[in-house]
Amino acid sequence: MINKETIQSIIETARIEEVVGEFVVLKKRGVNLLGLCPFHTEKTPSFTVSASKGIYKCFGCGKAGNSVNFLMEHEHLTYPEALRYLAKKYFIEIEEEHETPEQLLAQSEKESLLHVTAFAQTFFTKTLLESDEGKAIGLSYFRERGFDDKTIEKFQLGYSPEQWDGLTKSAIENGYKLEYLVTTGLTISKDERNYDRFRSRVMFPIHNLTGRVIGFGGRTLSTDKTKPKYVNSPESEIYHKSNVLYGLSFAKTAIIAHDNCCLVEGYTDVISLHMSGIENVVASSGTSLTVDQIKLIRRYTPNITILYDGDIAGIKASFRGIDMILEEGMNVKIVLFPDGEDPDSYARKHRPAEVRDFIQDNAVDFIAFKTNLLVGETANDPIKKANLIKEIVGTISLIPDAIIRSVFTRECSATMKIPEQTLINELNKLRRKKSLQKSSAVAEEQEIPEPTEYIAEQQLVTDDTSTESQEKELLRFLLNYGSQMIEMDTLDEDGEKLKVNITLAFFILEELSRDKMSFQNEVYQSVLEEYKELSKKDITPDMQYFVNHTDPVKSAAVIELLFNPYELSDNWHLKHKINVTKEDEKLKESAISYVYGLKLRKVDKMISENMDEIKKATSEEEQIKLQQKHKSLMEAKKIFAEKLTRTMTR
Ligand code: UTP
Ligand code: MN
Repeated sequence: MINKETIQSIIETARIEEVVGEFVVLKKRGVNLLGLCPFHTEKTPSFTVSASKGIYKCFGCGKAGNSVNFLMEHEHLTYPEALRYLAKKYFIEIEEEHETPEQLLAQSEKESLLHVTAFAQTFFTKTLLESDEGKAIGLSYFRERGFDDKTIEKFQLGYSPEQWDGLTKSAIENGYKLEYLVTTGLTISKDERNYDRFRSRVMFPIHNLTGRVIGFGGRTLSTDKTKPKYVNSPESEIYHKSNVLYGLSFAKTAIIAHDNCCLVEGYTDVISLHMSGIENVVASSGTSLTVDQIKLIRRYTPNITILYDGDIAGIKASFRGIDMILEEGMNVKIVLFPDGEDPDSYARKHRPAEVRDFIQDNAVDFIAFKTNLLVGETANDPIKKANLIKEIVGTISLIPDAIIRSVFTRECSATMKIPEQTLINELNKLRRKKSLQKSSAVAEEQEIPEPTEYIAEQQLVTDDTSTESQEKELLRFLLNYGSQMIEMDTLDEDGEKLKVNITLAFFILEELSRDKMSFQNEVYQSVLEEYKELSKKDITPDMQYFVNHTDPVKSAAVIELLFNPYELSDNWHLKHKINVTKEDEKLKESAISYVYGLKLRKVDKMISENMDEIKKATSEEEQIKLQQKHKSLMEAKKIFAEKLTRTMTR
């Protein structure tokens, strides 16, 4: 883990215009820089970079963030990866957090394991290409399968000799420790004898995201059915199967370019499709698909196309995979290959264009997939048909997005000839059950939404009684000017008039707590809470503190605050600083107008809610109580309004 101080110095050193400038041509425009947005296609530039604030925002698609967010979004990096990228760019040495001797040892152990697997890969490849046994058995097998030299080289394929300790012996001779050979599973140590796990097999190395070898799959060439077809490396510190997809390091770029990832079952499917020019392909390699693997794909695209061979047992087992993908909020299409064919055999028998067309023409959504598949079984059997519908509705209920759910509900209603409302009722029942289960699972971890998702949602939730825009204005003001001192009149113990100097932050927080005000927008409220906590410790956080906050939700919200829809708030600063001598007065007035603007809005909201209550009230007693409440709300409104107009017209 990178320590806090390093993160801070990375963030402080990074210049947004330099980071973005590597990917986007920027031109000066006023106080800002402007360029074509890299996140959506546009002809006139609306991608704005503020060097002074260290942030960017596209007024076309709404994407916004700081240097770290930009790299995460544009280069598909994780948070620590983005930090490391910047550290490298600015020659900042990364200090890892509290690394105990054990952790340091673990780090170097990991590195040692990677060295051993790298050595093994070279050994297997050399054996394949240079030894007589390798050439005669391994290489001729690959040739028979149609793998050309380029492919063998690219995937670093190899051959393990028949000898019982070929690799182990060679590795030890080259100075590698037996211990590491055993922990990576390359060597099996038993009864004082050390022998190779992989013997007389063709070898498929498995790579991590950065292309380093972390494990192997070895295929037997014998037809002996009692031998397992594949032997695989065991789990180890460097190879966590549930978190690895075969071929991903070769597929990354193509996945991004096609905005789609093909998912197959085997090593050879990946390789053959590559030879057919389809490079956006990964394999789950025998294990059933895991959530971690799906999340790995989501870093590059939200779209997955599953390519299945036509074996019915396998397909039914794969239903779970489809559900998991949908549950992660991703889109899934399924391609079923003709009976007896898998992507590998199909790719070998057809020209590249035919393979591409086949996938394109046969990709269907899960409703079509399941109905096509089971239509034979359900044709004359109402019970089976009902079960199929229930199953499809069950799958729809997993989709997090309400709009996508309703699109599929409509499709299901049309395909299965069932009234849409029936499906919706069933769906609601399932969703309710699910949310009950969820809320009872107390300790469940809450997932942090992506910053961009958050912003999009924020834009949706402004009804006409919402106080959010006032909250936004006030928070922006607080973050910009909180530390400024203002002079206030107050009364001392003897009732004498007294002038005191306080920070603007103090004034605003006092005003808010006096009327027990909280923000309706949860994120703004959480920023305010943190602000209050820090103030108690006499710290007045500024905009940059939250812009670079490690909580991406807070950071995204505050970055958004820095922009209003038409202009960067730089101009806003200028507007409010015209008259320096009157600055203090101006600040006080602004503070009052923002605070009371919010209070007024809030009281309006309460009044209208109370009116609704009055209309609904059934007893006279209740009526009277609500009427009284109405009266006191109106009084409060009058006081707030007066205070506001007094400030505005002064
Ligand atoms: P397949 O049996 O479809 O193998 O298993 P394949 O990759 O298509 O190989 P060929 O075409 O017969 O040579 C699919 C995947 O399941 C895993 C492997 O990852 C394989 O690629 N598997 C299969 C094993 O791990 N062990 C096995 O014994 C069989
Ligand atoms: Mn196969």
